[in-house]
Amino acid sequence: MSATEQISFRVEPTKTSRLSQVDFNNLKFGQNMSDHMLVAEYNNGKWEDVSIVPYGDLSISPSMSALHYGQAIFEGIKAYKFEDGTVSIFRPDKNWERFNKSASRLQMPEVPEEIFLGGLKQLLDIDRGWVPSIEGTSLYIRPFMFATESALGVHPSISYKFVIITCPVGAYYSKPISLKVETHYTRAAEGGVGFSKNAGNYALSLYPTQLANDEGYDQIMWTDALEHKYIEEAGTANLIFRIGDTIITPHGDTILHGVTRRTIMQLAEEWGYKAEQRKVSVQELIEGIKSGKVSEAFAAGTAATITHIDRIGFQGTDYNLPPIEGRDFSNKVLNYLNQLRYGKIVDPFGWNF
Ligand code: COI
Repeated sequence: MSATEQISFRVEPTKTSRLSQVDFNNLKFGQNMSDHMLVAEYNNGKWEDVSIVPYGDLSISPSMSALHYGQAIFEGIKAYKFEDGTVSIFRPDKNWERFNKSASRLQMPEVPEEIFLGGLKQLLDIDRGWVPSIEGTSLYIRPFMFATESALGVHPSISYKFVIITCPVGAYYSKPISLKVETHYTRAAEGGVGFSKNAGNYALSLYPTQLANDEGYDQIMWTDALEHKYIEEAGTANLIFRIGDTIITPHGDTILHGVTRRTIMQLAEEWGYKAEQRKVSVQELIEGIKSGKVSEAFAAGTAATITHIDRIGFQGTDYNLPPIEGRDFSNKVLNYLNQLRYGKIVDPFGWNF
């Protein structure tokens, strides 16, 4: 992909880098923020004051509307370091597109390409030392936007802040995960905000996820709001199954359309698998596990990458998935994406930015 148009921003480099304090062999997700962040302000109908400044606290008003009414959205992107030191961001254009879809659903302004992608490029230029090179690690990039108007009336804010922060990370899940099929609580309904990456979608998951954790499961498998019959997604990632010879992922507007999910489905087609985006019922999944037709199940997301699922709990019964070693498709994708993202093979798709 060609680099996007560059506009120059105010850059204030840090006087005291924290880079030497980071243990790159022991990275916890989201805990070591890089030296700089990008901040842009939206006022009077336009973006202004775009700057790259030392990472630090933001000053906010207690009556800021995002705190009260949740006008807040975000993205997750990863950058990788090649052996020759090149820093490559994986498909950030797709995250930019999705970010603006989330923005329009929450009545927020779109962020232009020069700020989102151009700004990200400049931010990584200054913080390129923070991109880790050990296999399995990457720089996690978190762009987010929130409403900043000081107002308690419920209306779209007239001002917003767009920020990008980054942090070197290892695996989000360090081992296969177990999921509890959720048949009471709901993540999203038709016509709602399920497809958007807004803060509220994650806040609402915390309580039911805690209940699932208390029962011994790592995460939730959300089902549809109407009948709890169809599978939607996991708490922090999309879901993909191999049923017979077909690679299947649930589909619809109640689901977040993940970039990793899209990538994997594209690869499945490319490699000659039958690939379907369609409704998958809990019954189809459970019957398929029992009969051996479901041979693979995994969570797919930027943070989660590909995380194998080893156990699914439904109505008090546990169903175990086949051993990880025999999962040809997901292991092949994982291996291929690792090679592509770390620049070890030619990128035929133009996914490395
Ligand atoms: C990501 O995969 O980037 C996400 O945003 C999921 C997250 C809530 C950790």
